[in-house]
Amino acid sequence: MIIRSITLKNFRSYKTEIFTFHERFNLISGENAQGKTNLLEAIHLLCTLRPFKQVRMEELINFGEVEGRIKGELESDSGLNEVHIILTKGVKTVKLNGKIVYDPPKLLGRFNVVTFLSSDIDLIKGPPQDRRRYIDALICNFKPEHLIDLKLYLRALNQRNALFPRGIIGEALDAWDEKIGEVGGKIVKRRIKLIERLETLLEKNYRLISGLDTEIKIQYKPSFKLGSNVIEELKKELRARLYLDKKRGHTSAGPHRDLIHFTINGINTSVFASQGEAKTLALALKASEVELTRIVLGRSPILLLDDITSELDDRRKGYLYRLIEEYSGQIFITAISSKEIRHSGEKKVFHIKAGRAEPIAYQ
Ligand SMILES: Nc1ncnc2c1ncn2[C@@H]1O[C@H](COP(=O)(O)OP(=O)(O)O)[C@@H](O)[C@H]1O
Ligand SMILES: [Mg+2]
Repeated sequence: MIIRSITLKNFRSYKTEIFTFHERFNLISGENAQGKTNLLEAIHLLCTLRPFKQVRMEELINFGEVEGRIKGELESDSGLNEVHIILTKGVKTVKLNGKIVYDPPKLLGRFNVVTFLSSDIDLIKGPPQDRRRYIDALICNFKPEHLIDLKLYLRALNQRNALFPRGIIGEALDAWDEKIGEVGGKIVKRRIKLIERLETLLEKNYRLISGLDTEIKIQYKPSFKLGSNVIEELKKELRARLYLDKKRGHTSAGPHRDLIHFTINGINTSVFASQGEAKTLALALKASEVELTRIVLGRSPILLLDDITSELDDRRKGYLYRLIEEYSGQIFITAISSKEIRHSGEKKVFHIKAGRAEPIAYQ
């Protein structure tokens, strides 16, 4: 998986700019607010069809313009493909090799990226929905049908909740309970399976970075009693909570309410981790995501590292530099100055100034 080139037109701070990338290492340097992160976000959008964070489409389009475009040449197992994303107010059109893709989720999973962002620490210390979203997104990379199930689940949940104010119970409710149980059960089972695989790698990587013999766990705390038949247990729980849910006006059990958290030597990190522990865990988590992608899909994801080195101490930096030095896939890394990044191999350096790439230097 390699991004050969990208053309931006009215995307964020860019007017028109073409980048031709190195197949291994791309270093994007520049002062603050020049467009480094915007370039990484364009790459992310191209590969995953999502920006870094959920934002309104207008925010992605250059101020004052009505349309933004990202076009990229991506090389994968299926050869060289041109992916073109056209952003207009509220509408995102995706084209593959010149043809409109009517079912964009079908494209997912072809081009994998792993991001290293300073906000990764929120996965450790932030609210539970961040971790649910993270784990679900990771499953979608390996099993695109998970995205379809998440959408079906949300729809069934909204339909169930909509019945409460109207006082409707009976067959209509039973039908939605059935759907929530069936799809919700699948979602929970996949999450538990993924977490089991991720946990082993996470503990190993945490120990490598910290040099400590620490026990790391990822705990899945379901909002209902979990046994050997998740689907039936969730349905049973929905029936048992009907009175309570009706009173509250929402559904209080199911994967949308399940908790996921990390523990370090048995202690919940979202509450008690020190800043240092959380940073180490966030880095270990991303390194584990890279490893798991390679194990499951047999290919190296594209790495996007945004301003990460400024956040890390020497020990964590050493670990990260080793990871990128030995990495066989394509890497994009941003920094204020190219001198900040230790990397001995061949690379291409882009210096960004006010949304323009200044003459490129090969090193
Ligand atoms: N839709 C947009 N139109 C024009 N400028 C934008 C848009 N979105 C963000 N920007 C600008 O992009 C700049 C930030 O770019 P960014 O890539 O985050 O910089 P950095 O080089 O620090 O990573 C800011 O000045 C911001 O105002
Ligand atoms: Mg930035």
